[in-house]
Amino acid sequence: MLRGDKVGLRARHEDDIPVLLTELHDDVANASRSSTDPWRPISPGAKEPGLSLDHTNEAHVRFSVVDLDDGALLGSASLWGIDNHNRLAHIGLELRPSARGKGYGTDVVAVLCHYGFDVRGLRRLQIETLADNPAMLRAAERNGFVREGVLRSAAWVMGEFVDEVVLGLLVEDRQAG
Ligand SMILES: CC(C)(COP(=O)(O)OP(=O)(O)OC[C@H]1O[C@@H](n2cnc3c(N)ncnc32)[C@H](O)[C@@H]1OP(=O)(O)O)[C@@H](O)C(=O)NCCC(=O)NCCS
Repeated sequence: MLRGDKVGLRARHEDDIPVLLTELHDDVANASRSSTDPWRPISPGAKEPGLSLDHTNEAHVRFSVVDLDDGALLGSASLWGIDNHNRLAHIGLELRPSARGKGYGTDVVAVLCHYGFDVRGLRRLQIETLADNPAMLRAAERNGFVREGVLRSAAWVMGEFVDEVVLGLLVEDRQAG
């Protein structure tokens, strides 16, 4: 397990899946803000990569996030689009509603940076988030990510186009910080 100050990132367990399905995926508004794909229902037990134990895609590493104090499930996190030629990858995370706003997200980003840079030897990590997601923007910036640009009206979210912000962190920025 990867450890931060408050959170652990471990492999997905079978009994995580119904919780993540109910609290994250089945909240259509939330799920639509966290994915660039259109929302659609997922049946219990379906072989849906995001919510299954399927680890066959080597470019996408999925973790369950747990509280280091008691092991409680807090959410889901991933390093995706891992590109070993250009040595970059993207970060994604989603916490259960009851786990938000308590500093866990900032710690998850730190642990994903440790995994990307130290364990996987990557040079660049990237986060894309909606411009109206202050918690994600702040969790990224607290870890040294810088805003590199705005993709205007890049995301269709529940009836409107929303700007997307691209943030990046290079390994040398992190070493300097
Ligand atoms: C985005 C998310 C991962 C952030 O994690 P979190 O644990 O809630 O965030 P933290 O508690 O670490 O807070 C990070 C910063 O944002 C601020 N913040 C938290 N919630 C906020 C809110 N609703 N509005 C404004 N600022 C907020 C915190 O004060 C903190 O700032 P500080 O370090 O200056 O004090 C989490 O809220 C979440 O899962 N949201 C739903 C899914 C989602 O949006 N995922 C990201 C998709 S790209």
